[in-house]
Amino acid sequence: MEAEDPGVLPDLEHYIAERFAAEDETLRTVRATIASAGLPDISVSPTQGKLLHLFALMVKAERILEIGTLGGYSTIWLARALPEGGKLISLELEETHAEVARRNLVTAGLDQKAEVRVGPAVRLLGELASTGEPPFDLIFIDADKPPYLQYFQLAVGLSRPGTLIIADNVIRHGKILDPDHPEEEVEGVQRLNDHLAVTAEAVATVLPTVGIKGLDGFAIALVT
Ligand code: SAH
Ligand code: DHB
Ligand code: MG
Repeated sequence: MEAEDPGVLPDLEHYIAERFAAEDETLRTVRATIASAGLPDISVSPTQGKLLHLFALMVKAERILEIGTLGGYSTIWLARALPEGGKLISLELEETHAEVARRNLVTAGLDQKAEVRVGPAVRLLGELASTGEPPFDLIFIDADKPPYLQYFQLAVGLSRPGTLIIADNVIRHGKILDPDHPEEEVEGVQRLNDHLAVTAEAVATVLPTVGIKGLDGFAIALVT
């Protein structure tokens, strides 16, 4: 299960990326900045970024919330879908990651639209709820995996009917197929997937995302 044969997948990713998700100079610079700052290589891929961008356009998102910023690569794909006056808030535990992300948002000309808040996501989500923040149109969950279900439930609290909630890394190279998998990251995404399968809060599915990062997936949930 661990070592899936990549087969045609890298070529397929390349085919899609060069047609539909070509990085411009800004995104190439941002990716290089993330690498040279020593941040882990766990940003979404260009094709995943394009898919997030497309989702934001599909729901005409004017307000986006992201949980897990890293260097701001997914943040930029999402914020580029915002209309004039749109807003994105991204939550990040590590001050060092947030600093890289803020610099990248300036590079991308998005620092007026997109804001990075630093702290543990559960606390920051609680603050958003208690300060009467208007509902978000799209919420992207991509921070630490064990609390994924809690993040989803807090996200629902910041939603309205029609909000699109997307969670990254819900297949984890197929490890989720093992109901007794020992990793708490795997258990965390399994709990979210199993909840999404039965909840009346959202209409949901899991979309496998394959390519340069191997086999993973987005959970996609439209709040009812
Ligand atoms: N969305 C980014 C990748 C995020 S990687 C992209 O695709 O470009 C996950 C990020 O979540 C890391 O930067 C990590 O520091 C952050 N994180 C981990 N635990 C967290 C927590 N409890 N609260 C907020 N952020 C957290
Ligand atoms: C990891 C986290 C991610 O958000 C991701 O997209 C890939 C890997 C990780 O923690 O290993
Ligand atoms: Mg991820």
